[in-house]
This record gives sequence, C-alpha cells and structure tokens, in this order.
Amino acid sequence: MNFVKCRRIRGEINIPGDKSISHRAVMFGALAKGTTEVSHFLKSADCLSTISCFRKMGIEMEESEDLLKIHGKGLHGLTAPKDILDTGNSGTTTRLISGILAGQSFPSRLTGDASICRRPMERIITPLTAMGADIASDKGNGCAPLTIHGRPLRGIHYLSPVASAQVKSCVLLAGLYADSPVSVTEPALSRNHTELMLASFGASVSSEGSTATILPHPSLAGQQVTVPGDISSAAFFIAAALLVPDSELLIRHVGINPTRDGILRAIEAMGGSVEKLNISSQAGEPAADLLVRSSSLHGTVIEGAMIPTLIDEIPVLAVLASCAEGETVIRDAAELKIKESNRLDIMVRSLAAMGVDITGTEDGMIIRGGKPLHGAVVDSHLDHRIAMAFAIAAMAADGVTTIERAECVDISYPGFYDDLRRIAEPF
Ligand code: S3P
Repeated sequence: MNFVKCRRIRGEINIPGDKSISHRAVMFGALAKGTTEVSHFLKSADCLSTISCFRKMGIEMEESEDLLKIHGKGLHGLTAPKDILDTGNSGTTTRLISGILAGQSFPSRLTGDASICRRPMERIITPLTAMGADIASDKGNGCAPLTIHGRPLRGIHYLSPVASAQVKSCVLLAGLYADSPVSVTEPALSRNHTELMLASFGASVSSEGSTATILPHPSLAGQQVTVPGDISSAAFFIAAALLVPDSELLIRHVGINPTRDGILRAIEAMGGSVEKLNISSQAGEPAADLLVRSSSLHGTVIEGAMIPTLIDEIPVLAVLASCAEGETVIRDAAELKIKESNRLDIMVRSLAAMGVDITGTEDGMIIRGGKPLHGAVVDSHLDHRIAMAFAIAAMAADGVTTIERAECVDISYPGFYDDLRRIAEPF
C-alpha cells in the first residue's frame, strides 16, 4: 500500500474501542452471572479471537452494530472446549485466558499464529506453576501451544520480574480460583484495567503502589461496560496532527487512564499541543476528547516507570522523535523486542531507511531528529502497530512510502486507512 504527504489534517474522529478493555469485558462477562452489555466494543481480529475462545467454552454472545451482549455463566460455568483454543495474534488473549483455564475442572489446549508461537509464555507458566497449576509448553520451548490441566490453585504473592499487565492479569485471574488471596508486585505499575473492571464486576481487588491483591471466589455479576476509544489507536492520529503543518484534529472520547496515558506526557515534554476536553469517567476509567494542533517538537528522554504507560506507543513516538529537533533517548524498553514483532529492531531499521539518524541500543534507541524523511519501502512484519506507525511517518516524508503487508492493521483497527484518509486533506 502506498502513502504520500498530505496538505493538512482537519476535522473530528471517533476512535474504535480500547483493545485491552474489550478483551477483559468478554472474559469477565463470561465469568459473571447474568448479561454483560458492552458498548463501543472493539471488533478487531484480536478481540474476535477472545470471543471465539469463550464461545468454544459454551458462552453465548450476541453482536450487533455497536453492542456486544455476553450471557455469562458464573465463575464455574465454562465448559470444556471440544478442540484447541486459537488465540490468533493476541498476547492478551493467550496470557489472560491461561490464568482462567488453570483453575477450571477441565483440560484445554491453546495455540495462536506464528508470532504468538514465538512469544515468551514462561512469564505466565512460572507464576501459575507456583500456584499449583499444571501448564506446559507442548514443545518445551516456553511458547505456545500450551496444554493446561485445570486444578485447584493456591494463593501466592508473586514478585513479577517484568512490568506486564498480561502477566499481572493472568495471575490475578487465576487468583479467582485460588484457596487464599493472590498478590502481584511489579517493578513498575502496568495498565490496571483488570483491577478496575474486576472490581466493578464485584471482585474484591485492592491496589497499593505497584502491588495488586485479589480475594478468591467472588460472585461476579454482569455489568454495562462502555469502552472508551483506544489511546493506543488515537496515538497515530495525534502524531499525524502534530506533524502535519496547519492541522487541527478533535479526537472524541479517548481513554486517558493514567497507567496508559504516558504518550500524552511524552508529547507534552516534546512541546506538543494536546488539550483534554470534556473529561468523564466510567467504572474508574477516565476518558476525554483530545484537541490536537500542529506543533514544533523537540527531543526528550523516555525511560523508567513511564515505559509501561506508553509501551504500545513507542513505534509512533519514534516517528515523532524523528521529526523533532534534537535528540530523543528511549531506554528501559527491552520488552519491545518480544511484542507482535521485534519492534525495536524494525523501527530502527525502517526509520533509518527513511533517512532518520537513529541508533538501536540494548533496551531502546537514540534518535537525532529533525532531518528530512524520505519515502521508502518498509515491511510491517505483520505487526499492526508497525504498519500504522509508518503510515504516519509517510505523512512527514517526501516521495512515496510503500508499506508491505499493510492489512495487518485489522488486528487492532479495522478501517484505519479509511479513517486516516477521511481527515487528511490531499495536496
Ligand atoms: C496489554 C498489555 C501490554 C500491551 C498489550 C496489551 C493488556 O502487554 O503491550 O498490547 O491488554 O494487558 P504486556 O503486559 O506484555 O506489557
């Protein structure tokens, strides 16, 4: 797919629902008694993988235009799947569902696409095994396919070596089925959607600093969930409006949970103009309209506890840094190597191909921004966020940028290119 510069970005846009929150709504709705109604549910390939896994375990769901109804069967209502559960490209589905499956009274198997079968699952096998779970990597390489024999679980206090909401959520979900409380302490606080949403469904969850604790065997009740727009998807539009001169874009109802809004803080540090309007909140999840105006940006340092709050936005932040004056240093971001693709390597190589002065480091990158970008041929490596990041880089580059295997955006944002075209005025 080919991309060129545009004249300016103007107008308003509604961003599809938050992916992390959509996954959780399906899972917790399935484990709750009664009906859960989810509005602005994200119908992307990843979330559809979650739906398909729970349908295979006997959960009925009805999908209409913007509403998903889940007929939950309670904590012990899932039934044994007849065949292997396919989590597609979704790390969130794979890791969170494993915590649930570990405590069931039936065995199950899980697999996913080529990317999922390369991603590390030891990080969940270790704490689940410490809880007494029977979970194994079929090939013994610490990756999916996984075989899980559900068993009674015991409570633990897990000191996670990584700040990962997927690991934390997996352990907390297993904690629903444990014989005593389960706590997880992370090196830095990761996104807390699981804690907030489980509490709103009736679980007893408490958080102190970067430790979350859950009490076992709650009675979860179906809820109405309104999913805010995904800040990780909004990030691409924010970046486009900042970079393209003479732009002004209003992005409606975007989730700004402080464990997710690091991109806004990084942009502020770079001199970017993003105004929050109409702030609201539902079940502890804040949202706002974001008014973005073209800005001249300068370099910054992105590191430490900020990293988990913008982990999925680093590809597009690297694009912003490429167009900012001066040096941007991103460190403490080694987790990026084990996402849907090795995002560190791919961003460094592909931005360099567009003329960016960029050096990869052990756990991040150094970008000396401000040089003109030129079009190039870049491959998405089937990673949705890489494809979208380069569609934005193309808007700041001279000539034509070709993105190969660009259709992978369907993982998190079907319709991304149409939405981008709608707000981008051509020359
Ligand atoms: C997610 C957590 C993050 C993030 C992913 C979604 C979640 O992964 O990168 O896109 O929904 O919990 P890690 O927990 O592996 O950092």
